Amino acid sequence: MDIYTNHKRLYGIALCFYLFLTFIVAILPAFNAENNNAPLPNSRPLTKLESDGKLVFIAEGCTACHTQQVRNVDMDKIWGGRPSIAADYSRITRTDLWRNTATLMGSERTGPDLTNIGLRQPSQAWHLLHLYNPRSVVEASVMPSYQWLFIVKDYPFPEDVVVHVPDEFRKGVTGSIVASTKLLALIAYLKSLKQVSLPDGSPVPVFLYSKSIKTAALGNAVPGTNAKTEIDGSALYAANCQSCHQENGLGLAGAFPPLKGSKVVLNPDPDVQVTIIMKGYSGRVNEGYGIMPPVGTNNNLRAEEVAAIINHERSSWGNTSSPVTAEQVRKIIGTLKQTATSK
Ligand code: HEC
Ligand code: HEC
Repeated sequence: MDIYTNHKRLYGIALCFYLFLTFIVAILPAFNAENNNAPLPNSRPLTKLESDGKLVFIAEGCTACHTQQVRNVDMDKIWGGRPSIAADYSRITRTDLWRNTATLMGSERTGPDLTNIGLRQPSQAWHLLHLYNPRSVVEASVMPSYQWLFIVKDYPFPEDVVVHVPDEFRKGVTGSIVASTKLLALIAYLKSLKQVSLPDGSPVPVFLYSKSIKTAALGNAVPGTNAKTEIDGSALYAANCQSCHQENGLGLAGAFPPLKGSKVVLNPDPDVQVTIIMKGYSGRVNEGYGIMPPVGTNNNLRAEEVAAIINHERSSWGNTSSPVTAEQVRKIIGTLKQTATSK
């Protein structure tokens, strides 16, 4: 054994051992993962705009607070319909020659997981206000503002996306606040983040350690909070509507209309209200409001839940209108589905 005296042999053996371990621990598993995981058939590659947005996401350090992985434990159920699997990430390629593959799975959740944010929050108007100042839409948010992604202009071009920031958050900024190309790309990326379903017949991984008390079913996209058996309209409102219409029902001037005193909410006939919740709404865009996404359909709200939300709106913030029943709502949803299929 002259390895203690022959340094060439000592380093040679150490190097071989190192290469062997690298092969076993890093290279072989990587090949294995690549060969056994194809992109899911329902997924699609990012568009140019979305992948530009991903680079902004990386550059702004959003991964410091946001994960993109639904773990297979029950507490993660609120972030997706199923646990994430390796195939979910198989479309991700090397960023460029110098930078390796950014999966952006993250490791810290100061903010919510974003695996399904495209489904949970598809409204561009909401993302614009939220990124300008998160406090404008979520009162107690600790997320930083990203105001450098906005441009202030005296005379915006017709094609510019102007953001209607409420006065109290403008902090003396005069002129129009316009979204930059980078920002629009970032929002396109966020809207592309949707968990896709597995092909028919493939085994769906289950969530482990499920709690024995079933929480009120709030749809898969929203945090479940209370364990009451009765459907809680105010909790459902908080999870599905509050991000835009706000807790006090006053909405936000220039973006989301108030529900306090709203003719639609107070109308004893719930037809229009149910249609708005299930199909979205853009009838008041010329008044400066944004577009409401089909929140009820996106979040899989059941008729009982929609009725509970409507009754909450009709009895809160000084609103008084007669309550609706789940039966009434079910009928309207049924008609909506019929007209959708007969078209
Ligand atoms: C310091 C931590 C932090 C950083 C950095 C951060 N966020 Fe957040 N984010 C949060 C918190 C906390 C929330 C929850 C409160 C809220 O909605 O504002 C949140 C919420 C969100 C939501 C809404 C999620 C939901 O389920 O409603 C989106 C979208 C989002 N962040 C995107 C981003 C993007 C894009 C960036 C980078 C430009 C970013 N965040 C950077 C902490 C952070
Ligand atoms: C992403 C933001 C967003 C969410 C979430 C949202 N809305 Fe809306 N809502 C809007 C916008 C924007 C409008 C105005 C649409 C337009 O321009 O016509 C609107 C309009 C409405 C109106 C019509 C008000 C009126 O007087 O014209 C009702 C009622 C309503 N929403 C109820 C709800 C309910 C109930 C929920 C939850 C199930 C909900 N919204 C969730 C953004 C949102």
